[in-house]
Amino acid sequence: MKRMKRMTRISIVVAGGMLLLSGVTASSQTRGRVTVDNTPIDPDATSVDPSVYRGSERRSVYDGIYTEAQAARGQATYLQACAQCHLDDLAGDGVTPSIVGPSFHFRWDEDTLLAMFEAIRDTMPQEAPASLSGQAYADISAYILQVNEYPPGPAELAADVEALERIFIDEVAP
Ligand code: HEC
Repeated sequence: MKRMKRMTRISIVVAGGMLLLSGVTASSQTRGRVTVDNTPIDPDATSVDPSVYRGSERRSVYDGIYTEAQAARGQATYLQACAQCHLDDLAGDGVTPSIVGPSFHFRWDEDTLLAMFEAIRDTMPQEAPASLSGQAYADISAYILQVNEYPPGPAELAADVEALERIFIDEVAP
């Protein structure tokens, strides 16, 4: 009797699980974005949409996505090209915004690193936007992440659109 009950419970759970699974499959098919195992179905679905990247696809600034050497290069470039306005500690002043701490998080939380990279490249330094190399903007981005206390890792941050748009600026570790 006891065993029968357990069997029934198990089959209800299994049936429920299958229902759930078929629901998941159906909804990801309708959205045409991601399969259950996180593979993008649509090769064009690389636009910035947080729901596209999950599991191994989605990366975080907590994943160690720049190196210490890169951040050191970025700091040197920052001191030459940015610090006269944003100051040495990135905290800015009454006119120039802070790019560290709460201001940084308020502005960039849940954005991709690509959004930040492009905003900086396309508008900064203010008197000469897009005047630095892609590498220099990547290095400066690495330095900004370091000052904001995100950990370094084994590989450099590349000035690569596809790589940058997979990395999310999470305020809290995901
Ligand atoms: C001549 C002064 C000046 C220099 C040099 C300068 N900035 Fe700025 N920066 C500003 C001002 C003013 C703003 C706010 C207005 C704006 O966003 O254009 C700003 C805004 C920003 C923002 C916020 C953009 C946003 O979309 O919220 C970032 C990030 C930034 N600067 C980074 C940099 C970096 C990195 C450099 C060096 C490559 C740099 N700035 C050089 C004055 C400057």
